[in-house]
Amino acid sequence: MYTQGLDGKIGPVREAETAEEKEREARFQARIDAEERIEPNDWMPEGYRRTLIRQISQHAHSEIVGMLPEGNWVTRAPTLRRKAILLAKIQDEAGHGLYLYSACETLGVERAELVEQLLAGKAKYSSIFNYPTLTWADVGMIGWLVDGAAIMNQVPLQRCSYGPYARAMVRICKEESFHQRQGYEIVMTLAQGTPEQRRMAQESLDRWWWPALMMFGPPDSDSVHTAQSMKWKIKRVTNDELRQKFVDVTVPQAERLGLRIPDPQLRWNPERGHYDFGPVPWDEFWRVIAGEGPCNRERLEQRRRAHEEGRWVREAALAHAEKRRLRDRAA
Ligand SMILES: [Fe+2]
Ligand SMILES: [Fe+2]
Repeated sequence: MYTQGLDGKIGPVREAETAEEKEREARFQARIDAEERIEPNDWMPEGYRRTLIRQISQHAHSEIVGMLPEGNWVTRAPTLRRKAILLAKIQDEAGHGLYLYSACETLGVERAELVEQLLAGKAKYSSIFNYPTLTWADVGMIGWLVDGAAIMNQVPLQRCSYGPYARAMVRICKEESFHQRQGYEIVMTLAQGTPEQRRMAQESLDRWWWPALMMFGPPDSDSVHTAQSMKWKIKRVTNDELRQKFVDVTVPQAERLGLRIPDPQLRWNPERGHYDFGPVPWDEFWRVIAGEGPCNRERLEQRRRAHEEGRWVREAALAHAEKRRLRDRAA
């Protein structure tokens, strides 16, 4: 079992030692360079496997924990239609978590172990889900900005070198674009509403903008895994490139909504052909990652409770499977 690595401290990848090992790693890299997909039964370097387990499990945990801030609004959605849409969206996220745990299991780790890591507070998930959803506008903001950032991140992952991960991303990305649009539509409705609704939308954007930019991870200069992940084609685009792309796409959307992005340094740079933007508050990012965000404790507490409450379902399913196995054997 690969329990190490889930806390992000996997240490340097061990160098190939013997000539035979070097040869095998060179063959592996040549397959990656030739854009071949790596499949579960193929040989792969231990570092590649561990990096994928870390990344895919963090991604799976993010989908599952990500259900919580939105779940907070299911009973308070303003109309029955909004409630039905929100429920469907949250169920999609559960499905994403399940695809990803399955993809991760193809690397030789068990889902129960990954879940245990999460519940023990040893695994990471996206820092964004440690922020509270205080108003209905936050549900719109999550769809527009958080799912929007997720799409930006995940579209290049459809070309990830590891087959099961890349394939899981195809369907996930289709669903994410529905999520992004439902969020944008909520925000648009508010932005075209009463002055109070417009204020609510603006206040929400003010709180979510910087955490959304943090979703792409630390700057490339501080990102320990980027270079190796790019070489292995697990990652296709760097954190800073994705962040820039997100800003470039989102600023015109905010303008159309008549909302103001809370960044006084934000302006179009015709020479670069991109928006320049102010410094991301990285201190806050590192604090949230370290467990000191506004809702870290609450989220884990809620997951632990849900896991406990679901225990009888897991036990019943296992007992049922065992009974069927015995029956099949007797027949
Ligand atoms: Fe998702
Ligand atoms: Fe989503």
